[in-house]
Amino acid sequence: MGTGARTTAVHSVIAMRPQPEPRDAVRIRPARAEDIARVVALETEAFSDAWTRASFENLLGDPRALFAVVCDDDDLVHGYVVAWYVVDEGEIANLAVASTSRRRGIGGSLLDAALDEARTRDVTSVYLEVRDSNEVARALYASRGFVQVMRRRRYYRTPTEDALVLKLDLHQPRTHAPR
Ligand SMILES: CC(C)(COP(=O)(O)OP(=O)(O)OC[C@H]1O[C@@H](n2cnc3c(N)ncnc32)[C@H](O)[C@@H]1OP(=O)(O)O)[C@@H](O)C(=O)NCCC(=O)NCCS
Repeated sequence: MGTGARTTAVHSVIAMRPQPEPRDAVRIRPARAEDIARVVALETEAFSDAWTRASFENLLGDPRALFAVVCDDDDLVHGYVVAWYVVDEGEIANLAVASTSRRRGIGGSLLDAALDEARTRDVTSVYLEVRDSNEVARALYASRGFVQVMRRRRYYRTPTEDALVLKLDLHQPRTHAPR
């Protein structure tokens, strides 16, 4: 993702949290101040080089950013996405789903929400960075039509690893039906 080195990691702190309903029950809404603690917990679970609380707080109300969460009927947050939009370019800067809530379509729904927002803003190209070894995320991005346009050698730390820069041309038709 866009802030430099990060490593996926799994911690047990969120493992006992309740899980969301299956794919069709998720609800995506803009993040609020009261979501930040949960988002930071998910961020820490997902990445060893987690964004700080302040990084998320600074996104609230920023018109250039989309900061959205997916939550269940009890308003428990199961994932989040951060995207930036500047003129005709967008960047998926952060995306994570609680480890206990993965493979239920939540990550795809969050990514689709960020891409829909890009289309609304007349963005024509969306970029992101992903670890070379992050095959799950790469599969998700490929399912939405992202293609590799660059490799940043030794971009990430802990462990050192190349970043792949992926791009989606929004003039292309959707490759994945919305859920
Ligand atoms: C990447 C991540 C956000 C995916 O979230 P998710 O909710 O599990 O993803 P989805 O259930 O929407 O899956 C969407 C697609 O991703 C791919 N995918 C997801 N999990 C996968 C897995 N374990 N193996 C292979 N492909 C997988 C598939 O193409 C899947 O589509 P399908 O279900 O129709 O086959 C999640 O694994 C995560 O938070 N990982 C840690 C943080 C991270 O790596 N973020 C991205 C940084 S660039």
